[in-house]
Amino acid sequence: PKEKLKDGLLSFTSAKEWDVKTGFDGNENESSVSITVVGASGDLAKKKIFPALFALYYEDCLPKHFTIYGYARSKMTDAELRNMVSKTLTCRIDKRENCSEKMDQFLKRCFYHSGQYDSEDNFSQLDKKLKKHEGGRVSNRLFYLSIPPNIFTEAVKCASLSASSYNGWTRVIVEKPFGRDSESSAALTKTLKQYLAEDQIFRIDHYLGKELVENLSVLWFANLIFEPLWSRRYIRNVQLIFSEDFGTEGRGGYFDNYGIIRDIMQNHLLQILALFAMETPVSLDAEDIRNEKVKVLRSMRPLRLEDVVVGQYKSRSRGGVTYPSYTDDKTVPKDSLTPTFAAAALFIDNARWDGVPFLMKAGKALHDRRAEIRVQFRHVPGNLYNRNFGTDLDRATNELVIRVQPGEAIFLKINNKVPGLGMRLDRSNLNLHYAARYSKEIPDAYERLLLDAIEGERRLFIRSDELDAAWALFTPVLAELEEKKIIPESYPYGSRGPVGAHYLAARYNVRWG
Ligand code: NDP
Ligand code: BG6
Repeated sequence: PKEKLKDGLLSFTSAKEWDVKTGFDGNENESSVSITVVGASGDLAKKKIFPALFALYYEDCLPKHFTIYGYARSKMTDAELRNMVSKTLTCRIDKRENCSEKMDQFLKRCFYHSGQYDSEDNFSQLDKKLKKHEGGRVSNRLFYLSIPPNIFTEAVKCASLSASSYNGWTRVIVEKPFGRDSESSAALTKTLKQYLAEDQIFRIDHYLGKELVENLSVLWFANLIFEPLWSRRYIRNVQLIFSEDFGTEGRGGYFDNYGIIRDIMQNHLLQILALFAMETPVSLDAEDIRNEKVKVLRSMRPLRLEDVVVGQYKSRSRGGVTYPSYTDDKTVPKDSLTPTFAAAALFIDNARWDGVPFLMKAGKALHDRRAEIRVQFRHVPGNLYNRNFGTDLDRATNELVIRVQPGEAIFLKINNKVPGLGMRLDRSNLNLHYAARYSKEIPDAYERLLLDAIEGERRLFIRSDELDAAWALFTPVLAELEEKKIIPESYPYGSRGPVGAHYLAARYNVRWG
């Protein structure tokens, strides 16, 4: 469309007029989708949600009739929202053409409504604006709650009572944290269910939208060579590693109330573990997959205090730069015991995984940024080469590494003969490096998840029983850490984390990868 649209679009009185002004060939029988980003002025909305929506638009994945509304308390005009949003939009594939033109078209479909999160009146005003855009079509509405957790329920209440669709679907994406423990999570679920049915609630865990995490099931269930190895018979341990090379950076206020176990382990790493360890689902339907994941979670032993190591980063000076301590953050109490690092050993008490340690490690301000799954296999029985050539038995086991990020890759470490006349072995990688193999850019996790929510695909969202099972594993140890005021081990900013993590791994005969 060439014409510059006015802010607010309140002048649209029918779908037809909307179609004419936006250049669409009108069909009033078609449905519309209105996406409201609640908390649009915030960090996540700017950083992830609007860019992901733009990428979907760019890839022609959004429905033809869509409108995006930002909703927050801040006073902003449509133009100001567009200006704010435009600063974070990028064309995923930068060589693509017409990027700025596409951005302009996208921004014209973005609007803003200022309101309180606990005001039914303010959501009613939003409803009126949405109706104008929907122009009498079937109205499907998606609300993305990108706001702090203490205001989730008020916002859900007001959105569902005053701005839900009258003739189409209404879905609500809820961001983590889903409570702090079993009790608060159950209370949140109970309140949400006063206003929404379970199938309207899309609890997001963005790690489930990552390409390599989605690929896990394909790897196991579509490759004969892996599936038979997938058990205690051949796998010695599994490691789930999350590390960031920066600290809490402005999110200290949120983080201090949660800590790394709630921020990363109870959700992102545990979700990966469940997908990794589940049995073959009956089908690829969301419920069949989630049923299998719940079974894994419910077969796990609650984490014990002796199987956890916690740490907190301290200031460090290096190369003339001083990196801060966690407690240097002004929003963090000086005597905070909140862990910014944790390592844990978890076990699944079922026939397939009995006795196999699943080791998790998650930390901020470490020496590198990566998320990986490492599967270490058992030794080759009676290893001929070890016997004859003195190979280091511990190092010579096979290892499968799934690098979730950065530099998405899958590689299998094998023992190989070094070419030449002698007989010398080394460890080499069979390597699937995504950037080298696939020319297409990998979509951001939020793109996949937003698209799924629009399409009603629940496979990658957390069901309430999954959430209950996940909290049941971590709640006792979190309570104990807090009651006993366990002091986290210090580790320098940018280091490999506290040494306790190595002792924990060694107790289970594991060496971190
Ligand atoms: P912000 O703290 O930026 O909050 C989002 C918006 O909510 C703010 O712009 C503000 O808008 C409003 N707001 C903030 N504090 C309050 C308050 N005390 N009372 C009422 N309104 C408030 O959050 P993020 O954007 O960082 O995160 C949003 C959600 O997503 C949170 O639940 C967070 O835990 C989760 N999340 C965030 C991630 C991130 O990387 N940022 C990653 C994963 C999850 P206004 O004042 O205009 O109303
Ligand atoms: C969020 C955590 O869920 O995930 C953050 O709250 C963390 O603390 C982030 O930094 C990591 O996500 P990603 O996609 O950048 O690895």
